[in-house]
Amino acid sequence: MNENTETIILGLESSCDDTAAAILRARPDAAPDILASIVHGQTDLHAAFGGVVPEIAARAHAEKLDICVEEALAAADLTLADIDAIAVTAGPGLIGGVLSGVMCAKGLAAGLNIPLIGVNHLAGHALTPRLTDQVAFPYLMLLVSGGHCQFLIVRGPEDFSRLGGTIDDAPGEAFDKTARLLGLPQPGGPSVQLEATKGDPARFRFPRPLLDRPGCDMSFSGLKTALLRARDALLAEKGGLTEQDRADLCAGFQAAVVDVLSEKTRRALDIYLEENPSQPLLAVAGGVAANTAIRARLETDCAARDVTFTAPPLALCTDNAAMIAYAGLERFAKGAKDDMTLAARPRWPLDQTAPALLGSGKKGAKA
Ligand code: KG4
Ligand code: ZN
Repeated sequence: MNENTETIILGLESSCDDTAAAILRARPDAAPDILASIVHGQTDLHAAFGGVVPEIAARAHAEKLDICVEEALAAADLTLADIDAIAVTAGPGLIGGVLSGVMCAKGLAAGLNIPLIGVNHLAGHALTPRLTDQVAFPYLMLLVSGGHCQFLIVRGPEDFSRLGGTIDDAPGEAFDKTARLLGLPQPGGPSVQLEATKGDPARFRFPRPLLDRPGCDMSFSGLKTALLRARDALLAEKGGLTEQDRADLCAGFQAAVVDVLSEKTRRALDIYLEENPSQPLLAVAGGVAANTAIRARLETDCAARDVTFTAPPLALCTDNAAMIAYAGLERFAKGAKDDMTLAARPRWPLDQTAPALLGSGKKGAKA
């Protein structure tokens, strides 16, 4: 920590298929500055396999972490000697990747003799609205990405209650699988969204899973199967798909996801507002929060009940290390730190009291 009580923290992220390093500067009574945020994705490495291959991911993280740190230092115009603390994703995620990050962080912390802080990746996402919009506790968070989907009441840096989540696929996985089934490029979210703008959402009526059951849990794997059946029926009937067929399938699929997220968010808000009527705020994070149709519906739903809606900029919605540095900073500010016994954890639910979600997902543990 510098004399002027400024803290410079380095964050590392390597839990899935993005290797990232970021540097934040924190000062008392001021919003933290993101001095650098470097992300190296691995989409190309996994493209041929139809999903993230854990061993390939881990090796790529081990190779790229040093480079990310060097690039972050250069972008921030700092050297390692300027770093006061290191925050690293210690889980949940693909264990090889998490281990790569934790080992790198331990080496740096030991070499520089500075504090090491283990961060829960989901806490990184969940605390991002505080980094970007200085949102006060508590708030309701909908975390929707390729690996995660859950509603959280965020009460403090380490105080989360999970109200529900997906019991199988995350919505991003469903978008990616849909794109694959229709021969559209990866990542599937943006391509399916683009096709959907040209399609008729009413032509194919896909299921809205679990809407008939109470609670905030969700399911997205049946939707993908329904889409597969609709596609195969078209193929059997006409021998191929027209541009319009593809657009209509995407529009129908996206409309189903939007309806499910909208209704489950309404229920989560009921529970949250009952407990916190004076703090009506919904924040979304994760790559799927970039979807314009989902965003628009949630914004309209929130406006209708006087709930403030906030979504971090896309680069901080998807996996990044600035969120890890920030979550580390919140723990550090409370006096928490780890040592060389810090373990990499494949599973690490934010809310230890909530029952485990079932799915483990192609991108790793859900919680
Ligand atoms: O948060 P993220 O970068 O990584 C994970 O933690 O998974 O999210 C990536 C996911 C991918 O599945 C991608 O298809 C999805 O977010 N995504 C979208 C959109 N942009 C990215 N899904 C729907 N609509 C989008 N516009
Ligand atoms: Zn993530």
